[in-house]
Amino acid sequence: MRIDIISAQPWLMESAFEHSILKRAQDKGLVEIQLHNLKEYGLGKHRQIDDYQFGGGAGMVMMVEPILNLIQDLQKDRNYDELIYMTPDGDLFNQKTANQLSLKENILILCGHYKGVDQRIRDHIITREISIGSYVLSGGELAAAVVSDAVIRLLPGVLGDESSALSDSFQDDLLAPPVYTRPAEINGWKVPEILTGGNFPEIEAWREAKALEITQRKRPDLLQDDSLLDN
Ligand code: ADE
Repeated sequence: MRIDIISAQPWLMESAFEHSILKRAQDKGLVEIQLHNLKEYGLGKHRQIDDYQFGGGAGMVMMVEPILNLIQDLQKDRNYDELIYMTPDGDLFNQKTANQLSLKENILILCGHYKGVDQRIRDHIITREISIGSYVLSGGELAAAVVSDAVIRLLPGVLGDESSALSDSFQDDLLAPPVYTRPAEINGWKVPEILTGGNFPEIEAWREAKALEITQRKRPDLLQDDSLLDN
């Protein structure tokens, strides 16, 4: 998979991609992430990328030309399966969307800034608009890093233990059951006995029951939505 990310401040994402699982995924050649600085396509001597909005109003708007020129240059080398715009008024990101995106070959992500981008980019270029939550960030960069992380860890071979992405919270519409490690008792706090007994069918049944109980308590809405794995 290849992910191209367009931003006016690409350095905000650098450290997210330079460590741990995401770094290893790139080193293994499972994903290629390219950050593109929109400023390099800015207009004129000042590399302008934003302008006042027509009709008046506070806040600058990201201009069509720099974005269009950069995207068209990138499209000379590859076709994108999705051109995503990160925006607080996009579709709420969830595990189902992460699953869908993990099956794509080439993804482009555009990070918004200021008041956002000229609507014509959204109307004519963007294929999907994503929000990571009902709050406003200073820009789309952290949101793009969140989406990329959630997608990349699903790619085959990225996680050492292949089964662990499947046992994540949300992956089967359920939150994950509690986990414990040694010691079996500390300060009088005991690990549930069933987990130390070695009866694996019973342990599996216990985990499923716990996952259901926790989901019912914390996120009953997930049990209403039975389509998280649909593509
Ligand atoms: N840009 C600013 N806020 C955002 C959010 N909540 N999700 C995605 N992109 C954003």
